Amino acid sequence: MSLTIADLYRKKESGEKITMITTYDATFARLVEAAGIDMILIGDSLGNVMQGRGSTLAVTLDDVIYHAQCVMRGCTTPFVVTDMPFGSYQASDDDGVRAGIRILKESGCHAVKLEGGMRCVPLVKRLVDAGVPVMGHLGLTPQSVNTLSGYHVQGKADKDAETLFNDALALEKAGAFSIVLECVPRSLAERVQKALSVPVIGIGAGPDTAGQVLVLQDMLGLSLGKKAKFVRQFGNLGDMVIDAFKSYVSCVKDGTYPSDKESYH
Ligand code: KIV
Repeated sequence: MSLTIADLYRKKESGEKITMITTYDATFARLVEAAGIDMILIGDSLGNVMQGRGSTLAVTLDDVIYHAQCVMRGCTTPFVVTDMPFGSYQASDDDGVRAGIRILKESGCHAVKLEGGMRCVPLVKRLVDAGVPVMGHLGLTPQSVNTLSGYHVQGKADKDAETLFNDALALEKAGAFSIVLECVPRSLAERVQKALSVPVIGIGAGPDTAGQVLVLQDMLGLSLGKKAKFVRQFGNLGDMVIDAFKSYVSCVKDGTYPSDKESYH
């Protein structure tokens, strides 16, 4: 049995921090579950870390459903959220409702996440009415990288902070069960969490939200390139994997792998 939204609310009320991590396959889903992590996000960051792209924009509905299916085969206890990819809900709310239903129906995950504030309110209401729990996403919203002119901290100016704050209130009122806040000043995230009853899950938003989310490859030391300030590397799997590969290569080359014991007779 998986965690439920009610379980997440109880954790927030009791002050127990909620943990969330992105995952895209069954192998890691099993490990995430074994570590007792509460929530999994099949993020459209899969465009970056699984597909090797420079942004999330090309990720399709079929892509997220495929990865969500893989994740669902690998775990049972985490509460699993799948991103609605760019293009699946921006043109019309009808598209968005169909996309949200498809994601739940075809993957078996528990909720969807979408990026945006006020403009998403009617869609959030319709999805929730249709039985699709929705997580909002405010602050740095990577699907808008071109209108935001890159990946920067959001909500620094008073006017922007006010817009974000009102967007968060509107999403909660529309029925969002939780909101991801990405790359915003700590004080703004704290203000938003204090004003909301639903859990805010922060990424680059400081420690005062109900929970935290990180991209799996970033926190395990598997990502290439410059790390954002908020990324802490909790492991160095990249180096461990390279060492294992090198050891395999040298054992094959010097003839010590496979040994007689590793051979059939
Ligand atoms: O796609 C993703 O991985 C995300 C997280 C960064 C929150 O949206």
